[in-house]
Amino acid sequence: MRVLVFGAGAVGGVLGARLHIAHHEVLLVAREEAVVAIRTDGLRLEGPLAGTYRIAAIDALPDGAEVEAVLVTVKAPDLGPAAATLARRLTAPGPILLLQNGLGIEEAFRDGWVGTGRPYPAPDILRAISTVPATRLGPGHVREAGRGEIRIGAPAAGAGGAAAAERWRRLLASTGLTVAVVPDLPREIWRKLIVNAAINPVTADHGILNGALARDPWRGQAEALLREALAVARAEGFDFPDDEIEADLWRIVRATAANRSSMGQDLARGRPTEIEFISGALLRIGARHGIAMPATERAAARIRSRRPVGPAAPGAPPQPS
Ligand code: PAF
Repeated sequence: MRVLVFGAGAVGGVLGARLHIAHHEVLLVAREEAVVAIRTDGLRLEGPLAGTYRIAAIDALPDGAEVEAVLVTVKAPDLGPAAATLARRLTAPGPILLLQNGLGIEEAFRDGWVGTGRPYPAPDILRAISTVPATRLGPGHVREAGRGEIRIGAPAAGAGGAAAAERWRRLLASTGLTVAVVPDLPREIWRKLIVNAAINPVTADHGILNGALARDPWRGQAEALLREALAVARAEGFDFPDDEIEADLWRIVRATAANRSSMGQDLARGRPTEIEFISGALLRIGARHGIAMPATERAAARIRSRRPVGPAAPGAPPQPS
């Protein structure tokens, strides 16, 4: 199948390589420096499928590019512009899968798309959650740092999109990953959000690998963030048991111990972070429920102070200039 991977950074690079290895025709859209590196040296992948792979890469999508499926792996702050480009350039994109962390993802993508005046192909746009641990080592050079899986949200009954979900499941499963279409993706999104809210700001702020969270003082900070995120999730009706969510956190920390979190990678490169889609979103919802979140407020303030933050998540307050 001809698959467009829009955003060939860490996650897009790993999944693009896996799709290529599984004999799909992959087109990567990446930043110019990555495109130059991939065209010159191939996409270099470390991890279980280590190798150098010759994959087509471009930095600007041409008009009318013919693809059968689109995997959107840009970071959350880049979703609006990504959606606008896809809406303008592709006449028949096929099913589109959004693979970002946090809340407000579908809304940010939709806003970018409808801003172009093009009709929004709602049933063909699906969301998934990935725990595939991917690190960008350099332009066109990525590492898959452990085992992860992908969960695709089953469309609501009568909304269409079931065929698109099944197509994505088969496509991604063909790469050897564990992939499932799950009926309750919002619960999975919150489960991952709580873990990201605990891992990402602490690792990004202190410039540490995920595995370092097992030691104090970082362990205590991550646990405080986890408790606050869990309180917000419960207020929203996602009643995860304490021990289950703590087990999730430490399982993911162990599985991705050698990985730098996506927020850590973004800060290190001076790129906008997903703080508004993770901690910022939790603070806004927590405030509606009257939940005190001092640890999350501190963590978000520290990341926000390390500009650039990037476009706001839908519903986020204006950023200070
Ligand atoms: O955002 C990330 O970095 C990832 O979601 C995770 C699972 C925390 C691994 O680094």
